[in-house]
Amino acid sequence: MTEQPVIEVHDLRVSLGTDDGNIEAVAGISFRVREGETLALVGESGAGKSVTSLAIMRLLQAGEGSKAVGIGGRILFRDRDAGTIDLLGLQPEAMRRMRGHDLAMIFQEPMTCLNPVMRVGDQIAEAVLAHEKVSSRTAMTRAIDMLRLVGIPDPASRSRVFPHELSGGMRQRVMIAMALACQPRLLIADEPTTALDVTVQAQVLDLIRRLQREFSMGVLFITHDLGVVAQIADRVAVMYAGRIVEEAPVEDLFAHPLHPYTRGLLASVPDATQAGNIVQPIPGSMPALSHLPQGCSFQPRCHAALAGRCEREAPPAIAAGCRSVHCWLHAA
Ligand SMILES: Nc1ncnc2c1ncn2[C@@H]1O[C@H](COP(=O)(O)OP(=O)(O)O)[C@@H](O)[C@H]1O
Ligand SMILES: [Mg+2]
Repeated sequence: MTEQPVIEVHDLRVSLGTDDGNIEAVAGISFRVREGETLALVGESGAGKSVTSLAIMRLLQAGEGSKAVGIGGRILFRDRDAGTIDLLGLQPEAMRRMRGHDLAMIFQEPMTCLNPVMRVGDQIAEAVLAHEKVSSRTAMTRAIDMLRLVGIPDPASRSRVFPHELSGGMRQRVMIAMALACQPRLLIADEPTTALDVTVQAQVLDLIRRLQREFSMGVLFITHDLGVVAQIADRVAVMYAGRIVEEAPVEDLFAHPLHPYTRGLLASVPDATQAGNIVQPIPGSMPALSHLPQGCSFQPRCHAALAGRCEREAPPAIAAGCRSVHCWLHAA
């Protein structure tokens, strides 16, 4: 595995105007993904994971009732010629050229990217033609190759079907084929297997891992499922209320979680290897971003909160080796 980062996110901030006032959905997060590496971004629903991925893709739009989108920080992307580009500084047209070519994204629901009235082979070929100067015949050959690569049986004839003629798992494979048709350097996967049953989920995770090795892609894998994290990640960043509260190599995180929130997440999943293991959900729920508590955002739910300190001041980042944690319990 080479050590070159494909993407480095520095102090990313995303503010959204909602009916409840302005919220900081992403409140200054930093991370990097290297070539051939999978970073999992985990956390409860509403933590800011999807907003982070959409900010990187520059796909963030003001939603229903949303008034303004402000994005700050830097998103440094290393392109094929080893030049570094700040995606936040790109003109919309230049960003459009990078999307699907240098960075690609897959979602939970394949129909968000598939066109229901176009044959799947044509869709993949069109994605290739949008970015590469090749003939339509070459593009279609590539489309069929991609369908074969993602494990679709009889790809030449399947290339002529419409998305609704395929099962959910097969549609997911088509979406992956389309995302990877131009061999992007970074793949962002936002809960891509959440809607699939466990057998199909395992197949899709295997597929992503295999293609990642083949193309030495960086993968930012977003999920709330720690079982999936264990299967796919090299490193893990745990997100809570718009911040990364802990980051570590996957084995270290599972063996020695440092942040009380990470410990809570791990204690709230049933462990199949330990019969009789008691599942303890984290008490309470994530606060509304419009009404964040003083001090550490996790403090009202934290069994280990220090009276005074944790309630007053946001914790600093404490780094040790290849991991980091934002928590007063670990401050010297
Ligand atoms: N376009 C938008 N306008 C206003 N608020 C948004 C918008 N998109 C997401 N949010 C809010 O931002 C927060 C983070 O959402 P999201 O990133 O989707 O969380 P998740 O970690 O579950 O992916 C949530 O409180 C959500 O309601
Ligand atoms: Mg999400």
